[in-house]
Amino acid sequence: MTARDLVKGSVAVVGVGAVGSVITYALNEVGIKPVLIHRNARVAELYREHGVKVEILGEGERIIEGLHATYGSIQPGSIGLAFICVKAYDVKNVLSELPRLLNRDSILVMCQNGLGSTELAEKIVGPNNVLQAIIGFGANRVNRHEVRLTGIGPSYIGPKRKRVPSTLHAVAKYVSELLRVINFIYVDESEGYRWVKLGINAGINPVTTILNVKNGVVNEDAYARNVALAAANEVKEVAVAKGVSLPKDPANALLSVARNTAENYSSMLQDIRSRKRTEVDYINGSVYLEGLKVGKVCLVNYALWNIVKFLERIQLRGVSR
Ligand SMILES: NC(=O)c1ccc[n+]([C@@H]2O[C@H](COP(=O)([O-])OP(=O)(O)OC[C@H]3O[C@@H](n4cnc5c(N)ncnc54)[C@H](OP(=O)(O)O)[C@@H]3O)[C@@H](O)[C@H]2O)c1
Repeated sequence: MTARDLVKGSVAVVGVGAVGSVITYALNEVGIKPVLIHRNARVAELYREHGVKVEILGEGERIIEGLHATYGSIQPGSIGLAFICVKAYDVKNVLSELPRLLNRDSILVMCQNGLGSTELAEKIVGPNNVLQAIIGFGANRVNRHEVRLTGIGPSYIGPKRKRVPSTLHAVAKYVSELLRVINFIYVDESEGYRWVKLGINAGINPVTTILNVKNGVVNEDAYARNVALAAANEVKEVAVAKGVSLPKDPANALLSVARNTAENYSSMLQDIRSRKRTEVDYINGSVYLEGLKVGKVCLVNYALWNIVKFLERIQLRGVSR
């Protein structure tokens, strides 16, 4: 059996935004033109007409290639491997439409930051059919048809926990090979990596959003750093209490990411600026709620969650201050 035979059906990318376009670019590099699943026919038609261009870190541009489709235009049971690249708050909608396109061997690769998406996917397709991708590259949408890949750090892919059938590990290894051009690394247990990323996001994202500044502030300003590190340390406490084995200290990882992305604006701040919903419920909100389950009251995450929700409400509904 070849590695490709592990995937029983077509490869699909669901949600062709920043992450979905970069993953499609990487799949194209190894000769795969995935099915690109859009939310409706109107959007699919726009993509068919205008395409998507990915600008790659000073290496030029690529037009991504794939079959633009909608849930209704795909043969039931035909998708063998699907990269779920929508925002965390859209996962529920995807999982209400996607299952009829899957078969019993289909694998979903969940690409969201924060907590909740993997758990939702596991409930619907079962824990032996879900992989987690902890995305380490940075990509922005310039507009619907143009994506900029701004940096490639290591991304990790693997099952949430080690003890799953060997075929799931084999598919994770295969996916890491497919996506090697964007530095995907197979890990036999991805949960610790997800929590380290959660610590980074729980500190940098809300602090830079509330202060309305670039990520560099976390290294440059002691007050900003204090709050960001306190949030990351709460994430560590909850992870340890849950028995998650962390490959790195989240607070140290946060400082190093803030240094490497000093000139960038966090995705949460970009969402607030573009009057879009943020993923704070799945980041600081879920740290607070997961903390309660293990007897930890994460007050820093609770405060950051509520302040960002306040900002989000002002932006989305135009509530005056
Ligand atoms: N961007 C990064 O650098 C980065 C890095 C690490 C992790 N992540 C995580 O990756 C996830 C995706 O982020 P992103 O930056 O790629 O977001 P994005 O650019 O907003 O892309 C999301 C895409 O999903 C589409 N979509 C929404 N609902 C859909 C549905 N039901 N069916 C099909 N498509 C649907 C959206 O379409 P519309 O535009 O029509 O809404 C959009 O094209 C997030 O959870 C984020 O935390 C991103």
